[in-house]
Amino acid sequence: MAKLPVGVLISGRGSNMEALARAASAPDYPARIAVVIANKPDAPGLATAAALGLSTETVPSKGRAREAFEADLLARLHAHGVQLVILAGFLRVLTPAFIAAWPDRLVNIHPSLLPSFRGLHTHARALAAGVKLHGCTVHLVRPELDEGPILAQAAVPVLDDDTQATLAARVLAEEHRLLPEAVRWLAEGRVRVEGMRVRTLPL
Ligand code: GRF
Repeated sequence: MAKLPVGVLISGRGSNMEALARAASAPDYPARIAVVIANKPDAPGLATAAALGLSTETVPSKGRAREAFEADLLARLHAHGVQLVILAGFLRVLTPAFIAAWPDRLVNIHPSLLPSFRGLHTHARALAAGVKLHGCTVHLVRPELDEGPILAQAAVPVLDDDTQATLAARVLAEEHRLLPEAVRWLAEGRVRVEGMRVRTLPL
């Protein structure tokens, strides 16, 4: 079985990248991480990726024109033969042109049950809003921030004594389970996109 080459873009810790890498190390997993690219040279996830034996690259975004940054990014992804791109804690908004270069081939993981709590500080906002269910979403990327056809979601309870940290940890455990699952469906060619709805065909 030829594994689908995936590029993972990170800006920080990289724990979702690590969860995907661990899943992908199984011989029967249908995707492999071809490269991990950070837009910040000091992203801790780069060391994690290197320790896992993955190829890493840094494409700095700071102080550069968006077009130049994205042209570099695209060149690095192509150089590694990437066919599917995962935004895993990648804190940089991509232009419609970049997104159009990966039609239904660009995936984001977001720490809320979209369409609630787009953007940053989702756990603090969920606590402030008093919701009883919170969670995470894996979705295909569209030009609007944190919007696009939903591949998978997982919900967790919000407990009375939760802090941002306890809630974030409960959500993160679900992220680590959900992202490899959604990438598997894409790699197996089982995903059909109809407008905002995604159907995942049985194997
Ligand atoms: C995750 O919560 C992800 O949903 C969000 O950014 C965080 C990244 O964490 N987009 P990590 O870098 O994968 O550990």
